[in-house]
Amino acid sequence: WAAGISLSHRAQETPYGSCSPVVLSAIPLTVQQRKVHHAVIPRGKGGRSSSSGVAATVFGATGFLGRYVVNRLGRMGSQIVIPHRCDQYDLMYLRPMGDLGQIIFMEWDARNKDSIREALVHSNVVINLVGREWETKNYPFEDTYVSIPQQIAKATREAGITKLIHVSHLNADIRSPSKYLRNKAVGEMAVREEFPDAIIMKPAEMFGREDRFFNHFANMRWFGSAVPLISMGKKTVKQPVHVSVSVLIMSALCTQQTHSASALLRPNRYLLHDLVEYVYAVAHRPFVPYPLPRPLYHLVASFFAMNPFEPWTTPDKVDRFHTTDMKYPGLPGLEDLGIVPASVEQKAIEVLRRHRRFRFLEAELADTKPAKTVNY
Ligand SMILES: NC(=O)c1ccc[n+]([C@@H]2O[C@H](COP(=O)([O-])OP(=O)(O)OC[C@H]3O[C@@H](n4cnc5c(N)ncnc54)[C@H](OP(=O)(O)O)[C@@H]3O)[C@@H](O)[C@H]2O)c1
Repeated sequence: WAAGISLSHRAQETPYGSCSPVVLSAIPLTVQQRKVHHAVIPRGKGGRSSSSGVAATVFGATGFLGRYVVNRLGRMGSQIVIPHRCDQYDLMYLRPMGDLGQIIFMEWDARNKDSIREALVHSNVVINLVGREWETKNYPFEDTYVSIPQQIAKATREAGITKLIHVSHLNADIRSPSKYLRNKAVGEMAVREEFPDAIIMKPAEMFGREDRFFNHFANMRWFGSAVPLISMGKKTVKQPVHVSVSVLIMSALCTQQTHSASALLRPNRYLLHDLVEYVYAVAHRPFVPYPLPRPLYHLVASFFAMNPFEPWTTPDKVDRFHTTDMKYPGLPGLEDLGIVPASVEQKAIEVLRRHRRFRFLEAELADTKPAKTVNY
C-alpha cells in the first residue's frame, strides 16, 4: 500500500501517470474520479493475474460467505483488503485466492473508527459481511448488526467510495421473534441513513460445505436420529439458497444498474419438514421427526447457548429457523439479474455426502426423491 500511496500522488500530476490511451479509455468513471493505485485500472482478459479494476475491502471475509466472496473477487483479478481479528495462521486458506500481492491482510477492531477508515482508504468497493449467529459478552447483536455496519457505511461515505454492499437477511424484520432478525432490520435502516445508495442484499439461509443450516439439521442425528421441529416443521416455509450468492455480489459489483437496488434470492420454497426429510434422504439416514413446543425447544436451546465457544444452537436460532421466509414480489431477484440459482437438489449433495455412512458414500442421487416444493 505504500506503493499505492505514492502512485496516487503521481496520478495527481498527470491522471493515471504513464498509461496508454487504450488503457485510459477502459477506465470506468468511478476509477477516474478517485485518485487510486494504478493497479486498479482494468487490464488483461480476466482471471487471477489480470486486473478487474475492483479494489475491494471485505469486512467479515474470514466467515462462511467471506471465503466464497474473496475467491470470486480473486478470480476476477481484484485487489482485496481483508480486515481481520484472528491469528495470521487462520488466514492461510485465503492467501492463494488472489494473485501475488493482491490480497492484503490488516488487523482491525470493529470499535475503532480509525481502523475502519484505514481498511477502506484505497478501495473503490466495500463489502460488509460481518455477522455472528449468537451474541457474545463483548458483541451483542446491536453492535454486530447495527453499530458496526453503521460505522462502516459512514466511513465508506466519508472516504468518497461510491459502492457499498451490505449483506442483510431475507427475514430482517423489526417484528420478528428473532433478535438477530430484528437487529438486521434496524441495521439496514442505519446503513441507508449513512449511505443511501448502499446495495443491500437479502439472502435467505445459505447452504454450502461449511454452512450452519443443512449441517445443523444433519448433525441432529447425533441425538438419536430424532429431529425436533416446532409443529413438525409443517408451518414453516423455507427457501434456502446455495452460497453462490457471492456470484450475485460480484454481478452487483460489476453491473452499474444494481447501484442502489435491494436484491434478493428467489429459489424454490419448501416446508421445513420436507426440506429436513430431504436432507436425511440424501444423507441416507433415518428421519424421525417429532414435534417440540417452542418454549420447550427454547429451554433445551438455552442450555446449548451457555457454551462460551460456538453454541450449537440458541433460542434465537430456533426462532430464526422456524420463521417462514418472506416474499418480496417488488424487488429484483436473482433471475432478474440474469443468474439462475443452483437448486437444493443439485447442490445439497456437496454438503451432505460427508454425513453418509461409508457404504453409501458413492450412492446415486437419482434414488432420492426430490423435496416437494410449495408456492406460498
Ligand atoms: N450464513 C447464512 O446462511 C446467512 C444468511 C443470510 C444472511 N447472512 C449474513 O451474511 C453475513 C455473513 O454470514 P456468514 O455466514 O459468512 O457469517 P460468519 O461465518 O459467522 O462470519 C462472520 C464474519 O464476521 C466477522 N465478525 C463477526 N463479529 C465481528 C466483530 N465483532 N468484529 C470483527 N469481525 C467480526 C467474523 O470474524 P471472526 O472470524 O474473527 O469471528 C467473520 O469473519 C452475515 O451478516 C450474516 O448475518 C448469512
